Amino acid sequence: MLYALILAGGKGTRLYPLSREENPKQFLDIINNKSFLRNTIDRIKKVVALENIYMVTNKDYYGKICEEIPELNKDNVFVEPANKETATCIGLSAVKLLKKDKDATMIVLPSDHYIDGEQQFRDTIENAVETAQRRRGLVTIGVKPTRPETGYGYIEMGNRVSGEIPTYKISRFLEKPNLEVAKDLLMKGNYLWNSGMFVWRADVFLREMEKYLGKTYKRLMDIYVSLDTENEDKIVENQYNLIDGISVDFGIMQKTRKGYVVKCEFVWDDVGNYGALSRFLKSHNGNGVRGNVFIEQSENCSVFAKDKFIIGFGVKDLVVVEDGDVILIMDKNRDQEVKHLVNKLKEKG
Ligand code: GDD
Ligand code: MG
Repeated sequence: MLYALILAGGKGTRLYPLSREENPKQFLDIINNKSFLRNTIDRIKKVVALENIYMVTNKDYYGKICEEIPELNKDNVFVEPANKETATCIGLSAVKLLKKDKDATMIVLPSDHYIDGEQQFRDTIENAVETAQRRRGLVTIGVKPTRPETGYGYIEMGNRVSGEIPTYKISRFLEKPNLEVAKDLLMKGNYLWNSGMFVWRADVFLREMEKYLGKTYKRLMDIYVSLDTENEDKIVENQYNLIDGISVDFGIMQKTRKGYVVKCEFVWDDVGNYGALSRFLKSHNGNGVRGNVFIEQSENCSVFAKDKFIIGFGVKDLVVVEDGDVILIMDKNRDQEVKHLVNKLKEKG
């Protein structure tokens, strides 16, 4: 059977202060007045029946998810006691789905993307499902890169395999390269961005996990045998404490030899930083604005006003975000560094 698994436990720190730990990116309605999570579920509902759509999230977001997606059966939300990154949350979900269904195929979807082109989205996903089932591979959806983005994974297309929508064997997967390497890969022309959407059989995924993340795999197997017993929650919590978190990209996709990539034909954006978000702003005198803003003789600024009236004059390449108790002012060219900035703020306390 086919299932969708929506990953909804990330903290989205690169969009601080719009995105906060208590209200991260997946719950923000910054694009079409719908949250990223709502958009994700509405899109996949047309491919997978609601009862086969699952989410995995941190216990802190469980209430928010039930509120945001009331139609989702509460049992379809897998709850994690802590954030141990995507390899772990996908692994936990794989063992849970496998317990129900030995033939489970999972469509793994991040909950923080913008997608335009519904029909193409469905065609691409269906193609990826077929490849995952027929070739028993780990299939990802790839996007044609347009800039040397350092926040994404890069995939080298190997031999073309089949299908009307181009599908390739992955010959190399490189997660979040530095700028120099990203520029190089962009020039090469045979690389795609990893969209972070994956399709695989749960058993195939777990076998690759056993190979490359053996320790985490063992802990997940302890969880597997505890499922549906009265000890389940306790064991999940104990095992989670012992797991070293790693993303599926670094932990598995960079290493597997069973990778395939289906090239997508729809418009996609992670909207993961202020640079990306700026493309969705209203243009005003050569700048991007949202909310009550007046800006003049300025260029390439992105200004987000929530409660205040913001005036800009004679400035350049700035991101200005006013949200709640915080005003952020920064160099627009350094938007990838917000994550480090937030970590520094945390250390400072
Ligand atoms: N349940 C759960 N638990 N979800 C998580 C966790 C976790 O510990 N960590 C992250 N997520 C969710 C996020 O909410 C998001 O929906 C998704 O998993 C991906 O995590 P991100 O943190 O947003 O990853 P990324 O954007 O840095 O990188 C990934 O996506 C890029 C494209 O958007 C990678 O797959 C890259 O290779 C890819 O290019
Ligand atoms: Mg992301």
